[in-house]
Amino acid sequence: MRKTILLLMFVSFSFSLSAQTLEVASPGNIVQLSFYIRDGVPYYSIKRFGREVIKPSRMGFILKDMQSLDKDFRITSSARNHFDETWTQPWGEKKDIRNNYNELTVKLERPSGTPSKMNITFRLYDDGLGFRYEIPEQEGLKKFEVMDELTEFAFTDDHMAWWIGAFWPNRYEYLYRHTPLSKADTVQTPFTMETSDGLFISMHEAALMDYPSMALKRTESFTYKAELYPWSDGTRVKAEVSLKTPWRTMQLSDDAGGLITSYLILNLNEPNKLGDVSWVQPGKYVGIWWAMHLGYYTWNPGPKHGATTENTRRYIDFASKYGFRGVLVEGWNLGWDGDWVKNGDQFNFSTPYPDYDFKGLADYAKQKGVYLIGHNETGGAIMNYERQLTDAFSLYEKLGIKAIKTGYVNWGRSIKRIDEEGNAQLEWHHGQYTVRHYQKVVEEAAKHHIMVDVHEPIKDTGLRRTFPNMMSREGARGEEYDAWGSEGGNPPEHTTILPFTRLLSGPMDFTPGIFALTFKDRPANRVNTTLARQLAHYVTIYSPLHMAADMIENYEANPKPFKFIQDVPTDWQDTRVLNASIGNYLTIVRQDRNSRDWYLGSITDEQGRILEAPLGFLEAGEKYVAEIYCDGQNADWRTNPYDIEITEMLVDNSMTLSLRLAAGGGEAIRFRPATEEDVKRLK
Ligand code: NOJ
Repeated sequence: MRKTILLLMFVSFSFSLSAQTLEVASPGNIVQLSFYIRDGVPYYSIKRFGREVIKPSRMGFILKDMQSLDKDFRITSSARNHFDETWTQPWGEKKDIRNNYNELTVKLERPSGTPSKMNITFRLYDDGLGFRYEIPEQEGLKKFEVMDELTEFAFTDDHMAWWIGAFWPNRYEYLYRHTPLSKADTVQTPFTMETSDGLFISMHEAALMDYPSMALKRTESFTYKAELYPWSDGTRVKAEVSLKTPWRTMQLSDDAGGLITSYLILNLNEPNKLGDVSWVQPGKYVGIWWAMHLGYYTWNPGPKHGATTENTRRYIDFASKYGFRGVLVEGWNLGWDGDWVKNGDQFNFSTPYPDYDFKGLADYAKQKGVYLIGHNETGGAIMNYERQLTDAFSLYEKLGIKAIKTGYVNWGRSIKRIDEEGNAQLEWHHGQYTVRHYQKVVEEAAKHHIMVDVHEPIKDTGLRRTFPNMMSREGARGEEYDAWGSEGGNPPEHTTILPFTRLLSGPMDFTPGIFALTFKDRPANRVNTTLARQLAHYVTIYSPLHMAADMIENYEANPKPFKFIQDVPTDWQDTRVLNASIGNYLTIVRQDRNSRDWYLGSITDEQGRILEAPLGFLEAGEKYVAEIYCDGQNADWRTNPYDIEITEMLVDNSMTLSLRLAAGGGEAIRFRPATEEDVKRLK
């Protein structure tokens, strides 16, 4: 970790502050925040370059069976702090990240009653802000229940927003809608919007632990409030002092690409708590997976069982031959027979089906220099899973299984919990009960040196900084929807929206790289992109664990485009956005963390377009070979998706490339320093 400047300043005020407005600005005075008490109620407002972004918005809590923390407040003291540090990610989309903010902590008190004290900390960054509450230790308060968090976000106008709804049954797996705020009622975060004068705003939260996930509910015109996912008994938070909430965050940028390169969410999380994490290794994996989604194999045993010893050996051989680190095998363990979504408590996470030689395969994988990825589908039966966690993870560690992919397929409020009286209750995937579970799995996995990739997850809030074995998650419609989604798959624009919404929360296991884009026996479904676009997704979608999701025979049949998937890394030195328009197009370049190579991914929606890519990011004075995978002249996602051109050319950092993206298309480029031989060959 490289510390540049670290400067602390504290100023304390006395009780006389009750009528005062406190102000704090970001280090470059770009974002300004005011905090004040009006008629005993706390409010904050936000400006950027002096222009209002959030109008006065209320703060506080309603508590159960005790005095609420909502009114009669006065400010008892405040403290300020300036912080500037550059820290290094063990792995990530950028190696060194600057964490530079001004902080204001305000202490509030009600004149009498219990509880009476509440603190709020604001951190102002040049690219946005975060704030969190603390309900500190105080006389007479130990355990308490929050019935409502009153935090408001009063936007200034009917901004256009990209959103998915909260409390919808299929968790985060919906296509994003693009509407004015007045048409978006209760939404998940990240919630991204654009003002009519071109400011991009994204609302989210950071460091969500032991607290429910926050949705946003529109209460009037353009004002939203925190809507915490409740427990089955209607309470929102079951807490103990001292309670620190997650950070409520707002990222601000003049261009959409600036949201992607804002690291505010990570900065608001605590540093690595796991110590030496050299065992955490980003990489690519293949797996016995896509064939299940297409119906060629089954998870359950029988004539089409995918997870057989023979099949798995084939995948291990392939992974070893082509340099993949992991092999995912789904349907290897007892519990898949019958309706596994309804009967999740039948899953056994240590016992294989008889046609799957678990130990022999783990040894074979080790011998071949790869590892098996343990698939733990729970069907949402988390009590069953928790009972087995320690034993299963100890076994995996012993067998050299370095990663797990967990799953929580189930709909709506469907997570079973047995309460203190022994009654079964149903909880939301995103309430405090389940947030605790997701965290427990990460921490237990860390004890056994296991990396975690969660499907049907709780949304990411940057906890990978604190727990670097928390690698990737799904949490949106991934590639699997192309196999069976009722609308015929994800439309081309879907992946031009995700980087500005879902991916702002953190990495996504989208499972890209499908080469057989249409399916013989499923004419209503297809992958709605060109082939070149499938390659571009390895750069535009960030994930430290990226899958090459297709069946291996489809890669073996297409060695030339497959070369890009073999080459592209999943751990980056730096990330830059060259073109960005939400729902329309995106070009990202990333530098490999372990070489001097750069990679470019560019994608467009249903519309073909030409985008300019200035190569100024390359090292000056150096010649590079650009290995270009672009849409062919006749490519079109609907009529001719396979038309791809693969060429090489010499480039340097003074050049600008014109990227010709077909409708639904994309382009992927690897830039590597040219050898003398390359220069001769390509001149
Ligand atoms: C849903 C996951 O997203 C998918 O990847 C997995 O194959 C199935 N659940 C079964 O666990």
